[in-house]
Amino acid sequence: MTWNPRQLAQQTGRTFVITGANSGIGREAARDLVARGAHVVLAVRDTRKGEQAKASFSGPGTSAVHELDLADLDSVAAFAKGVSAEHESLNALVCNAGVMGGPQLFTAQGHERQMGTNHLGHAALVTALWPLLHSGGGRVVLVSSIAARGGRLSADTTREQLVAPSPYVGQAVYANTKQANLLFAQELHRRAGKAGSPVSAVACHPGVSDTALFTRQLSERGVGFLNPVARAVMKVALQSAHAGALPTLRALDHSTPSGAFVGPSAVGQMRGKPELLDVYSTAKDPAVAARLWELTEEILGAPLPV
Ligand SMILES: NC(=O)c1ccc[n+]([C@@H]2O[C@H](COP(=O)([O-])OP(=O)(O)OC[C@H]3O[C@@H](n4cnc5c(N)ncnc54)[C@H](OP(=O)(O)O)[C@@H]3O)[C@@H](O)[C@H]2O)c1
Repeated sequence: MTWNPRQLAQQTGRTFVITGANSGIGREAARDLVARGAHVVLAVRDTRKGEQAKASFSGPGTSAVHELDLADLDSVAAFAKGVSAEHESLNALVCNAGVMGGPQLFTAQGHERQMGTNHLGHAALVTALWPLLHSGGGRVVLVSSIAARGGRLSADTTREQLVAPSPYVGQAVYANTKQANLLFAQELHRRAGKAGSPVSAVACHPGVSDTALFTRQLSERGVGFLNPVARAVMKVALQSAHAGALPTLRALDHSTPSGAFVGPSAVGQMRGKPELLDVYSTAKDPAVAARLWELTEEILGAPLPV
């Protein structure tokens, strides 16, 4: 059924955390929620960029900038401590921040950067904020990608393949991280349901949208001088960051059930209005999701929340 952003009610009195809210899809989702009266915690690794985003929003809602580097589990813990000191409950956590491709880099804990940021950091964050999500009957939204269709995680995936993939192929690792987001959302939904938890979990993807995700890669490859041309092409060829944020907003709408997967369905799911989609075959197998869950706990050295 077609969904219209007008269906998302006013959000006065509700509190959201959005990771990577200073740029692209996260910033557009935050802008929309603030305009609907919500309080949005902008979880960003560069607080200067966070303040710039905050200054671009118009109320009646409010926002606050908090530092979060998902590529450092100590930063995740410090962020969660700060948010927990200020809030008793959360209505939603949007796990949006992400990196794509680039050279092989590692997190503060020595895990491959893309998996460390896109999946492991978010899994640690969900765990650390679980008490607040529980008391708010909150929702976790995981921002995945059509790249998840190409993910190769399986029931036999090893710890090494997650934290130190070799050979390192940037796009293949990115696909695995986005498959992990989708698998994690499905498993969180199943486990929360079984445990009778009030927390729900929904995955979404933004199609292909005009954000810094692509130009950042050029900069990291030392060809940042191509960015102005790339930006001009993307502006014409891709849907806007605002359109890319609509699946996130639909995922937050309580008419969207826990376990759902939201994204555009036109042009190979690259653009269009947010629809309820079939979960990709790469993320349907509960045995693969259970293996990812087990490995994630092993790598983080702590149990996940449910
Ligand atoms: N754009 C698309 O077409 C597309 C397609 C499929 C999926 N996605 C997904 O959409 C999500 C949002 O991406 P976007 O397209 O909006 O790209 P973007 O404009 O590059 O935004 C990415 C955000 O993630 C933040 N980030 C990166 N590493 C981080 C870290 N270690 N700790 C905290 N924040 C970090 C970035 O912060 P800085 O600004 O400080 O670097 C930025 O705020 C990502 O998960 C991406 O995989 C996007």
